[in-house]
Amino acid sequence: MLTDQNVGLFITGGIASYKMAELARLLIKQGANVRVVMSRSATEFITPMTLQILTKNEVLTDTFEERHPEFVQHVEMAQWADIAIVAPATANVIGKIANGIADEIVSTTLLAHDKPLIIAPAMNDRMLSNPATKRNLALLEEDGHTIIEPDTGFLAEGYEARGRLPELTRIVDVVIKRHVQKGLRQLLHGKKVVVTAGGTVERIDPVRYISNDSSGKMGYALARAAEWYGGDVHLISTKKSMVAPEGVTVEYVESAREMQEAVERQYDDAQFVVMAAAVSDYRVKNKADQKIKKSGDSSDLVIDLEENPDILAGLGAKKKHQTLIGFAAETENLIENAMSKIKRKNADWIIANDVSKDGSGFNVDTNEVTIISSDKSVYQLPEMTKLDAALSIWQTVLEAEDRS
Ligand code: CTP
Repeated sequence: MLTDQNVGLFITGGIASYKMAELARLLIKQGANVRVVMSRSATEFITPMTLQILTKNEVLTDTFEERHPEFVQHVEMAQWADIAIVAPATANVIGKIANGIADEIVSTTLLAHDKPLIIAPAMNDRMLSNPATKRNLALLEEDGHTIIEPDTGFLAEGYEARGRLPELTRIVDVVIKRHVQKGLRQLLHGKKVVVTAGGTVERIDPVRYISNDSSGKMGYALARAAEWYGGDVHLISTKKSMVAPEGVTVEYVESAREMQEAVERQYDDAQFVVMAAAVSDYRVKNKADQKIKKSGDSSDLVIDLEENPDILAGLGAKKKHQTLIGFAAETENLIENAMSKIKRKNADWIIANDVSKDGSGFNVDTNEVTIISSDKSVYQLPEMTKLDAALSIWQTVLEAEDRS
């Protein structure tokens, strides 16, 4: 998602500096060109050589070590970077950037960088809650910079508190969002979007259940992309172990009926509802309250099933201003079956995919979808990552709605 983007990684001296080798790798894996600038304190925690080898670029550590007579290195670096990330950002560098102080290579280069920064503070909890640090962070936000909230967790000091560097994947997410958003019209600005994701879980007893192969990836990608389009996104998910997308509110549910209740609670003021979840059509009728014990005789072990509500059809029946987007996982007659689902469920759009194909459907990172509207327009997309597919789905839907 960051192909050919120039990312400047500015490392200052905190214990989390050692994680920057991995952050550089993750950014490079996304296609970015990465160049690193390190404060002298950062070099106490991780060597410039490590970052030079990983990024295949020279690392700047000293304002006066001018190796290229044809330009001034910190000015050239500041202009080269399309995106600049300060991570980990110490209280010291936060104070300097907020107040325009330039007295070493990181702060001097950042003063010459004229685009908003992404700043990931990481420090001791008391330093973080110091009024001076809070004041400086507030100033940076006022200036339009993005601050990634530090996590609460096990600090280097040996206790749990706020101040940990966030998961690196969260930092990468913010960088991707900043880059992708530049090219997107904020067509969902001020609009509430509800997305469901994952396979519902129907309990047999407290430790056993019936579910399906849905990974939740397509729903999460749609939620992420909707947020990038400016939406106020509420994700209803069965996947507690998946990392919540940045800026998205996540509510966890288990069964189809819990999902139905959660969606209906959000329905009245929602503009878009995306039913990407794989909802179990049936639930266990004779659910056991206690764990079913092995008795040695399985002849009386029967699981009775009863039908679950069809959430999408229920929403379709009471639709007012909402746009309803459903999915159709098919193994044959894709378009025909999807068209009949649109009608049956009173949806506005159906995203159909042939789950029998290799790069499509459950548990893979790619998808090949066909977007079908209630006015029978058909848009066939090639196989692409689920995130790219999510962006294309929103683009198709939002541009069509914008035209009508
Ligand atoms: N869906 C739903 N509630 C259900 C079943 C499905 O809201 N009880 C939604 C899904 O989230 C999806 C769409 O309906 O957006 C189609 O789901 P799918 O499983 O393909 O269709 P079914 O209606 O279950 O029909 P079939 O299994 O016969 O293909």
